[in-house]
Amino acid sequence: MEEKEQAVLVALYIDGDEAAAPWSKQPGAGRPGEGMSGREDEEKEQDISLQELWDLAEACDIAVAGKLEQRLPHPDKASYIGPGKVDVLGYIMVTSKAKIAIFDHTLTPTQHKNLTRRLSRYVSDCRVLDRTALILEIFEKRAGSREAGLQVEIARLQYMLPRLVGMHDELSRQGGGSGAMSNKGAGETQLELDRRTLEHRLTELKKELAKVTSDRKTQRKRRSDRGEIRVALVGYTNAGKSTLMNAMVKRYTRAEKQEEKLVLQKDMLFATLDTTVRRIRPDGYLPFLLSDTVGFISGLPHQLVEAFRSTLEEAAESDLLLHVVDFSDFNRTRQIEVTERTLKELGCTDIPVIYIYNKADLCTDPAALPIVRGDRIFMSAENGIGLEELLRLMEKKLAGRFVEKEFLLPYSRGDLVSFLNERGAVLKTEYLEEGVRILAKIKTEDYGRLRYEV
Ligand code: GTP
Repeated sequence: MEEKEQAVLVALYIDGDEAAAPWSKQPGAGRPGEGMSGREDEEKEQDISLQELWDLAEACDIAVAGKLEQRLPHPDKASYIGPGKVDVLGYIMVTSKAKIAIFDHTLTPTQHKNLTRRLSRYVSDCRVLDRTALILEIFEKRAGSREAGLQVEIARLQYMLPRLVGMHDELSRQGGGSGAMSNKGAGETQLELDRRTLEHRLTELKKELAKVTSDRKTQRKRRSDRGEIRVALVGYTNAGKSTLMNAMVKRYTRAEKQEEKLVLQKDMLFATLDTTVRRIRPDGYLPFLLSDTVGFISGLPHQLVEAFRSTLEEAAESDLLLHVVDFSDFNRTRQIEVTERTLKELGCTDIPVIYIYNKADLCTDPAALPIVRGDRIFMSAENGIGLEELLRLMEKKLAGRFVEKEFLLPYSRGDLVSFLNERGAVLKTEYLEEGVRILAKIKTEDYGRLRYEV
């Protein structure tokens, strides 16, 4: 088996940095570290952030060999951590045989360049990654479709462009130290050439993505013309969105097509990068289109949010958001906040939301579930607990969008019976002498159309 690359994680804590622990009043159940002092809270937050970096490294197939933490009043402009600490880091990397240093923050191009130069005195062909680069690498590994591939490559090039100098250093060293940078004039020309090549590639990729995006928009428009209710699953990575999507598909779609409709659910960060849309038809409830898309994470690179905008717009154009939260995660309040911030960035501000506190089976006796409190539901997608209650809550949130009415349709209007069956939820059917009496839930717009027909 191929041996994994080893890395040292580096975290910097800024003294008195309120922004590092941005707890706000959220509908989450309890704030992490409730009852602890401010300092304890901050430390807990730092542990969580480092643990998340660790998980990200593992998701990228990198083994963590050690970690280095420093507390400073502000980041060092030239090397992010203090210059002395860079030497300590080099020493740790040598002793732990690590070739990668991963920083729990986005480094400026200068910091990246300086750190790479300095650390290469200790470790030949070392790599310096920051949180952004790590997330980009994971996305690159997971991109399954052409659209996701394009989006990730665009984000990567945008990240790389201002960092070309540092990368040139890395490349020339890896090429034996006699590369382009050994001759300054030639190196600069090469750098300029590379920059232009990258810019050209970026333009090409953006054009190609625009084409794919426009196909997706056409598909979306077709769906919206059909007037179906659209519900989007959103939430932090690994919260259980795909599991909930699969649970809905298994219980509420026709048996023979289920297997091909299931999406990847895995205990892995960013298992899903592509948007999947499924039609859910539960008995007694209005049918709706459910979409599952990429999960969010703290520090999701803005290049990625930009590049994935077209995929994420699925959420921005939906009628209802299901915000899935991992209730068993100590850090859930911060995760809710990160998700809400990203949604705001995407313009999803006026869409009704239901908070799904998933994985509640890990914290409570499953027999006590589900619990519904206002617009929150504590449930377990994995065990299929709470699906029916969730549907009820969804209809409550969508009240005003549909009506429950009785129709008496003549036998000659089989088309209207099919219409009700296809677009609405038929609750009761009676065959009378004068026609079929149907009690159904139907979207308000559809009811408006039907009234003229009957
Ligand atoms: P991304 O693709 O990263 O956005 O993740 P996701 O939100 O789609 O999460 P996914 O559905 O892949 O689930 C992540 C892990 O959580 C999987 O291992 C699931 O089996 C597990 N999981 C999901 N729901 C539950 C639950 O209700 N209870 C328990 N115990 N585990 C769950």
